[in-house]
Amino acid sequence: MRARVALALLSVPLGLAIASCVSRSSTRSDSLAEWKSPSFPADWRLRDTQRATHAPAAMVVSSESLATEVGLEILRRGGNAVDASVAVGFALTVTYPEAGNIGGGGYMVIRLANGHAEALDYRETAPMASTQDMFVDASGAATDGSRIGHRAAGVPAAVAGLVAAVEKHGSLPLATVLAPAIRLAENGFVVDSALHYSLRESRALLLRFGGARVFLPNGELVPRGARLTQPALARTLRRIAAEGARGFYAGPVADAIVSEMQRGGGLITAADLAAYRPIWRPALRGSYRGFALLAMPPSSSGGTTTIETLNILETYPRLPPFGSAAYTHLLASAQQRAFLDRNARLGDADFMDAPVRELTSKEHARAWRRTIDGSRATRTASLGSPLAKREGSETTPYLVVDAAGNAVATTTTLNSLYGSVFVAEAGFFLNNTMDDFTIQPGTPNMFGLVQGEQNAIVPGKRPLSAMSPTIVLDPDGKVFLLAGSRGGPRIISGVIQLIVNTIDHAMSTTDAMRAPRVHHQALPDELVAEVGGLTSAARDSLTAMGHTLADGGVGLPALIRRVPNGWEGIVDARRGGRAKGL
Ligand code: DON
Repeated sequence: MRARVALALLSVPLGLAIASCVSRSSTRSDSLAEWKSPSFPADWRLRDTQRATHAPAAMVVSSESLATEVGLEILRRGGNAVDASVAVGFALTVTYPEAGNIGGGGYMVIRLANGHAEALDYRETAPMASTQDMFVDASGAATDGSRIGHRAAGVPAAVAGLVAAVEKHGSLPLATVLAPAIRLAENGFVVDSALHYSLRESRALLLRFGGARVFLPNGELVPRGARLTQPALARTLRRIAAEGARGFYAGPVADAIVSEMQRGGGLITAADLAAYRPIWRPALRGSYRGFALLAMPPSSSGGTTTIETLNILETYPRLPPFGSAAYTHLLASAQQRAFLDRNARLGDADFMDAPVRELTSKEHARAWRRTIDGSRATRTASLGSPLAKREGSETTPYLVVDAAGNAVATTTTLNSLYGSVFVAEAGFFLNNTMDDFTIQPGTPNMFGLVQGEQNAIVPGKRPLSAMSPTIVLDPDGKVFLLAGSRGGPRIISGVIQLIVNTIDHAMSTTDAMRAPRVHHQALPDELVAEVGGLTSAARDSLTAMGHTLADGGVGLPALIRRVPNGWEGIVDARRGGRAKGL
């Protein structure tokens, strides 16, 4: 079947194949309930055995089962989707320390049942003592200090954000929301193979930066099946429950962070901690084929780049069939252009002029569309790099909808797995998010992103993120889909493809998630595809069109979708986690 589609497309010029697709009227979410079977490569490794979970009233999706159970516990106690999301966030710091950690930061997009939408930016900031060239040595070379060690840490933001979310939109007391996380830290939980494997993979880092005290007592990894208790973390969580954000940003927890910084030559001071504030922002709005998008504005690039890519795709009345070379080419070309803008023009809008309105306009998409040749890849260099002058995982998404119709999409990160420093006295890891800044224009960061000076380090500034918690409303204004992902810049591609798979390709929730994905971030100038995700015919066509193909994973998303009798939720079988509802 797949081969037939590819052959059919090869027999006509690709540009013609795209142009000849007929347009269709705007899709309503109800009509999308009739799912089409997509044609994935015959040997595609993700089978549809790991199906979406259905529930009539509410749904929680997170990367770790116990944290998902915590979200449900809070909903059962009468909490709303914001309470449940915050409870999941605090629980993840206990049960999913590689990513869901209070030493990091994140973003939340909230859509209340009354239609009000808001975004919460609780991204880390650069400490006051940081400087633009702090990760460049005397010879002018970039150091690894933005990734490894104490100076890699931005001012931790997660606690301020989670507390602000409950204070503004929650319906339960903070202490109630924190209770399950405290219980898990104090009484412990059984280490499963996923956690054991994750700790084993990061063993060297844990030994180097102090996490060994908790996770490798006596030098041995906590074994599978053992009960892991985290008394220092429990004390920290109890302080937050009793005092709110002050319990973290002042007093013993703040002291522990500052003395760890002093011990390891880090920059975060008591004044940095005291000054940290999360920021409420209007949700970034866009539209795609009659559906409305509520997404994250800067300091994340996630919303802007997602909307820009979808706008470019929308200039095609109908996309070619899933998996075809023609489709993959258009998708990658749209991503390539949106990432070119992202890398050169976006940063923390409180410190520079981020042209979000221009980049998310339909007109801008039409201008980019004119540069796309339906049968030929465009080299990024020939698109003219607008990168500014002077040039010369870990992350976790979680999603909650409640029975009243409130919806919350959150993504939080330490940047790379376990960040880079463990604050032993207080029981948590600190992020290495400073690497998301432009360390040096022209030098790729840990995700290969080549970014411009607009994202340079400035004290108090937030590094540009790709995190993309997104809520999609159907043409009737009802919440239709919630999405988020991990994977650095590939977060954006993961989220885009969940949306396009659902809206354009009419895939089921299960297929939308298991479908093979691709990614293009302008530089490096290559089309990343999952191994086995493209037929060899499609690969040959794409290569003939001038694409440089590279193998790689593309995000690890989470998805909730409205279906006629409730909700479906699904985690990515590529990694795991749990979707469960009420
Ligand atoms: O904010 C960002 O864009 C990155 N710090 C996200 C890092 C990430 O997704 C790591 N996971 N693989």
